[in-house]
Amino acid sequence: LRVAVVFGGRSAEHPISCVSAGAVLAALDRDRYDVVPVGITRAGAWVLPDPGLRLAIVDGALPEVTGGTAVTLVGDPAGPGLLRLDGGGERIGLDVVFPALHGTHGEDGTVQGLLEMSGIPYVGSGVFASAASMDKEFTKKLLTAAGLPQGDHVVLRDAAGALTADPGALDAAARQRLGLPVFVKPARAGSSIGITRVTDWAQFPEAVATAAAVDAKVVVEAAVPGREIECGVLAGPGGGPPEASLPAEIRLHPGTDWYDFAAKYLDDAADFDVPADLTAEQTRAVQEAARRAYLALDCRGLARVDFFLGAGPDGAERLVVNEVNTMPGFTPISMYPRMWAASGVDFAALVDRLVEVALA
Ligand code: DAL
Ligand code: MG
Repeated sequence: LRVAVVFGGRSAEHPISCVSAGAVLAALDRDRYDVVPVGITRAGAWVLPDPGLRLAIVDGALPEVTGGTAVTLVGDPAGPGLLRLDGGGERIGLDVVFPALHGTHGEDGTVQGLLEMSGIPYVGSGVFASAASMDKEFTKKLLTAAGLPQGDHVVLRDAAGALTADPGALDAAARQRLGLPVFVKPARAGSSIGITRVTDWAQFPEAVATAAAVDAKVVVEAAVPGREIECGVLAGPGGGPPEASLPAEIRLHPGTDWYDFAAKYLDDAADFDVPADLTAEQTRAVQEAARRAYLALDCRGLARVDFFLGAGPDGAERLVVNEVNTMPGFTPISMYPRMWAASGVDFAALVDRLVEVALA
């Protein structure tokens, strides 16, 4: 079975995708799979990368796909799609693609659409679920409709450049209602890129400009106090009903305000409890909400659902979904594979299941 693992891409999360792919490539059993690593440069060119490409963060240096043998993904009327090597015309048939891509043009339905059109089975969610889960505005709408409460938020759009011209525009009533701190986020991004935690409204215009540089749609969220809990969802064997992993918790070290990019990947800024120290009842509630979020967004194969668990305005315990990641990180520190390992599905079995579900 030939599996192409695709990584890098035209996304601010390019380097994280490379690290995820490194781990996925290492987990795929070479006795079962013929594995083809396929890189996408930051400019969007598809390549068979040079062997020896580093797919890890070493001393803070982030990996990047810079070149290799150019290839084109093409549909094949006679079967699933294939890769055509540019120039020579050599062809590599593919049975399934593992898009280990995060963020724009990878986790947002675009590459999924390309794979659909090429007739190639692929791991993970389809076009709609990918697009809906990538977009924080629509994720919130769909989760709210499914009875999963969302924190208060405001969506700002750069219609006709209005936001760029006046990034501070948010009326006094909205400021009063949201309170401080607020998190200012690009609507469609990942790994905390472009996000600012605003503790003083004087910082707000710059925070909006930072987010708007990543996406013309910006979401301003009220802070949801609580413990940071994550839960993995995985399709059952053969594409059966989704199963939820044991949840995990991210505990930031004192002095780290929030789980930003550096805290995630560069600094020793957090402890990860896998599994999280929760009561049986809390664990069940998290797992049930994770499965419901996965179904509400029509996900397929896998998702990592991130939560805040804390006291609501009435003082009662409240579980709020922060976001749904349709292609969660697979890096050595990433929670998704670790939560499944703690739940009895090791990394090799996890990628086997994902490939099996893609082909089901
Ligand atoms: N967006 C990163 C890769 C994650 O959710 O793990
Ligand atoms: Mg994310």
